[in-house]
Amino acid sequence: MRLLFVCLGNICRSPTAEGVMRRLVEQAGVQDEIELDSAGTGAWHVGSAPDRRACAAALAHGVVLEGSARQVRIEDFHDFDLVLAMDSSNLRELGGLARGERGCSRVRRLREFDPVSVEAGDLDVPDPYYGAKGGFEEVFGIVRAACVGLLADIRIGELQ
Ligand code: 4NP
Repeated sequence: MRLLFVCLGNICRSPTAEGVMRRLVEQAGVQDEIELDSAGTGAWHVGSAPDRRACAAALAHGVVLEGSARQVRIEDFHDFDLVLAMDSSNLRELGGLARGERGCSRVRRLREFDPVSVEAGDLDVPDPYYGAKGGFEEVFGIVRAACVGLLADIRIGELQ
């Protein structure tokens, strides 16, 4: 199972989701079965490390963020089983890119895998880049809950 997390810049939300998921996957001992990556719909930060505020928020929970930003490419819709958008804007962008592609990826919003978010009807991970400091902590919690749900669905075969 190959998972790609996607946000706008690939320096805040999607690297956080990738780092959180990597940790959960390792804790569950299924790292040989699940491959992870992240990307951005935009190109502004290509080559950059994750935002230091995102790194600090993650590290406070023992999660190290790694990698350098890259932009989503058409091959991603063939190379990944599931593409996880952080918000509705990312989802729209991905829908536009994937149009006409015969790739086999499913494209969903990450928070669809958190039952509490679904119940609340709140399926966007808020963009913390220009927001208040606490935004990165909030993003971490939101993303973690969704990744827990995502891994559970994968493990019960819900996404086969
Ligand atoms: P991300 O956050 O999409 O979660 O990585 C952002 C990073 C950069 C920008 C916007 C959002 N930006 O406008 O540069």
